[in-house]
Amino acid sequence: MSELNTKYLGLDFKNPLIVGSCGLTGTADSILKMIDFGAGGVVLKSVFEEEIILEHEKNLKERLEKQDSNLEFLDYFDYQIKDNLLKKQSQLIRDVKKDTDVPVIASINCYSVGEWFSYAKLLEDAGADALELDLYRIPSKINIQAKEILKGYFEIVKRVKEHVSIPVSVKISPYFTDLGNVVAQFDMLGIDGIVMFNKFYNPDIDINNNRITSGPIYSNPNDYGDSLRWIGLLKEQVTCDLSASGSVHSAATFFKMLLAGANSVQVVSTIYKNGPGYIRDLLSGLEKWMEKKELSNMDEVHKFGRELLPNHGEVFERAQFMKYYGQHEQ
Ligand SMILES: Cc1cc2nc3c(=O)[nH]c(=O)nc-3n(C[C@H](O)[C@H](O)[C@H](O)COP(=O)(O)O)c2cc1C
Repeated sequence: MSELNTKYLGLDFKNPLIVGSCGLTGTADSILKMIDFGAGGVVLKSVFEEEIILEHEKNLKERLEKQDSNLEFLDYFDYQIKDNLLKKQSQLIRDVKKDTDVPVIASINCYSVGEWFSYAKLLEDAGADALELDLYRIPSKINIQAKEILKGYFEIVKRVKEHVSIPVSVKISPYFTDLGNVVAQFDMLGIDGIVMFNKFYNPDIDINNNRITSGPIYSNPNDYGDSLRWIGLLKEQVTCDLSASGSVHSAATFFKMLLAGANSVQVVSTIYKNGPGYIRDLLSGLEKWMEKKELSNMDEVHKFGRELLPNHGEVFERAQFMKYYGQHEQ
C-alpha cells in the first residue's frame, strides 16, 4: 500500500491532489463532497480584486451619502469587515474548516498593488491555511513594459507577505520571456509556492450571431507539456514548492507531474467533466502507478523522477526538439 501523504507550502496534505480554484470550490457542500472523495486540499474560488474594490467603494459611497455621523467607520479594519464579499468568503472558510482538517487555500485574483492586499489578513483570520494569489493581468497596454508589470507583481507579493503569516503561493502564467528568472525572483522574495500555470480565458467570436463569446472553458487533456516542462526544469533550482496546474485529466498525467517534481497537483476541468467521484479514481490510479514502479511514498516518487530528469530537467530543452521533430518524417 503506497503512502500518498505529502507536504506542500509547509503544510501536511494526506495526498498531493488539490482541487484548484473554480466554481466547484465556491460552496461548502461541494467542497466537503470533494474532500469525502479524497481531495488532499482545495483552493477556493477566487475573490477578484476588482470585485473587492468595487464593493468597498460602493459601501463607502453609500455611507458618505447617508452622511454617517459616526466617523469611526473610516477606521481601516472596521470598514473592511463590512464588505460582504469578504464576509462571504470568510464564512465559507469557517464552514469548511469546522468540518475538516484538510488544508483550505484562499485565492485572490489580482493584478495591481493598490490597497486591497490588507484584505488577505481577513481570510487568514477566518482560518485559511494558505493564500494563493492568481496574478492575472493581460499585458494589453502597449506602452507598459514587462519590467513595470513584474515590479507590480513583486510588490503585491511583498505587501501580502507583510500582512499575513500563513504561507503564500502565486499562480502565474507561462507567458514570460524569462520565466525561469521570474520564478527565481519570486523565490528570492520568500514565496512559499508557485502554481504553474493559470489559464487565461479564451475569447471567441460567434459569427452566426455577431457577438463575442467565450471559447472552450475546460482544458485539453494533451496540453500538460508546459507545466511538466517548467516544473522539471526549475524544481532543482528553486527552494519554493511547485504545484502543477493545467490539463491533468488522468492518473498517468498526475503521476508524471509528481515525477517532474511537483509538490502538489491541481485539477479542475476533469472534475467538472467526470464529477467529484473521479478524485477517487485519480488517487487509486496514482497508487497503481506507484505500485507498478515499486515506489512506496512521495519521497521515492520524487527521487525516481530526479533520476529520470537529470541536470535540471535539461531533457525538456531545445535538443529534444531536434531529436523528436527532426526524426519524425523518417
Ligand atoms: C469554470 C472554471 C472556473 C475557474 N475559476 C477560477 C478562479 O476563480 N480562480 C483561479 O485562479 N482559477 C480559476 N480557474 C482556472 C483553474 O483553477 C485552473 O487553473 C485551470 O482550469 C487549469 O486547470 P485544469 O486544466 O485542471 O482545468 C477556473 C477554471 C474553470 C474551468
